[in-house]
Amino acid sequence: METRVAEIADGIYRLSTFVPDLTPAGMTFNSFLVRGEEPLLFHTGLRNMFPLNRDAVASLIPPETLRWITFGHYEADECGAMNEWLAVAPGAQVAHGQTGVSVSLNDMASRPPRVLDDGERIDLGGGKVVRYIDTPHTPHGWDAGVLFEESTGTLMCGDLFTQLGNEPALVHGDVVGPAIAAEDVFHYSSLNPGMGMTIRGLATLAPKTLALMHGPSFAGDGAAAINALADDYDRRIGDRLAEFGFARAA
Ligand SMILES: [Fe+2]
Ligand SMILES: [Fe+2]
Repeated sequence: METRVAEIADGIYRLSTFVPDLTPAGMTFNSFLVRGEEPLLFHTGLRNMFPLNRDAVASLIPPETLRWITFGHYEADECGAMNEWLAVAPGAQVAHGQTGVSVSLNDMASRPPRVLDDGERIDLGGGKVVRYIDTPHTPHGWDAGVLFEESTGTLMCGDLFTQLGNEPALVHGDVVGPAIAAEDVFHYSSLNPGMGMTIRGLATLAPKTLALMHGPSFAGDGAAAINALADDYDRRIGDRLAEFGFARAA
């Protein structure tokens, strides 16, 4: 396995490891490094991928200068290597939402994490500012959240828009159809009545780039893609409710 590095927006780098045998089409596991005076990593990667990701980060910055360790939610691919990163970077701190910190990270992180309120910003210096947004149970995980880098309009989506395969680092085509197909394969989302609304709320950010954890990054009309994904989840949830005899809301 190798980890490929590509700049997907100004000062934002995708570190991508393709695992070919996970599904028939394979799947990528992506972390994102945001350059700044206080460099930030979104997704630590799996613990057993740490050497690959550390070397990828080392091609961009000295790993020991990493300041912030962030991720979408508490699962192995999102944050399995968090303590390895904390060991390598003595000034680094995990930052996540209140739920994740209370439920998992106060205990699981080897140094105390920082709690981020919904909408709270971290100024990374060098013109980069990230905003944390709670997306509970969306696509899964009570503690789920996403991170938006304001200067580039880059939304680090976590598992939202998950797709199979190994596309180029940055695409301009459809990312909604492949996400719908992956949901049909994995059923990875916690379908919930508020899900469409939660996803649609991210469209108000009008992101120019969507940085997918499992899939390519997308440059284009992020709001349109987000709204289309929300529409599909509304349809999917409506279909499931109908199966159980509940009428669809008008
Ligand atoms: Fe996940
Ligand atoms: Fe993931």
